[in-house]
Amino acid sequence: MKTIYTLFILAIAFVWITFSCNNAPQAPTVAIDSTSMSKDGKACKPIKDPNNPKPMALMMRIMAANADSMRSEILRGEKLDSLKYPFIKFYLAEPTDSNVLEMQFFDNARLFQVAYNQVFQHPTEQKKYYNLLINSCIHCHESYCSGPLKRIRKFPIE
Ligand code: HEC
Repeated sequence: MKTIYTLFILAIAFVWITFSCNNAPQAPTVAIDSTSMSKDGKACKPIKDPNNPKPMALMMRIMAANADSMRSEILRGEKLDSLKYPFIKFYLAEPTDSNVLEMQFFDNARLFQVAYNQVFQHPTEQKKYYNLLINSCIHCHESYCSGPLKRIRKFPIE
């Protein structure tokens, strides 16, 4: 009888541990396999199911919508409110293609974050720093995901 109880408790413990591990937030895994890296924009695979995008793709959609709305506000002569546009840590999110998670991608993300902060640090030169920010979207997209480039190239303010 005692063994049955022990087995029962062990089984519960096993199920518990398995589930709690599965629910733990997954740390982004960095691909170091150099053969699978691509520098020509191919790393962004076409999304198989556009209605079920990965978290990074969803964040990018928000970033694009925000850039569009920043652009309109600057054109109307309004001052951008940093509280309305908090920085989105897209580089921690799961991408469609995990091969993008290599060193150059994180370097680009870091430069993008610097450019992002500068927009709000220069309230009197927002157009200039907004355009630099869009350059840094373009810079990363030239290496990692060339699909949206056509759209992003329309973002800069003349
Ligand atoms: C550090 C690199 C990097 C930067 C900077 C970056 N992107 Fe992206 N972007 C990506 C990658 C990689 C994907 C593919 C994400 C995925 O499919 O999970 C992507 C996807 C997208 C998409 C497609 C999302 C979809 O619907 O599938 C758009 C639009 C986009 N980015 C716009 C932008 C805009 C606008 C900016 C600047 C405000 C920007 N990106 C900055 C790397 C970057």
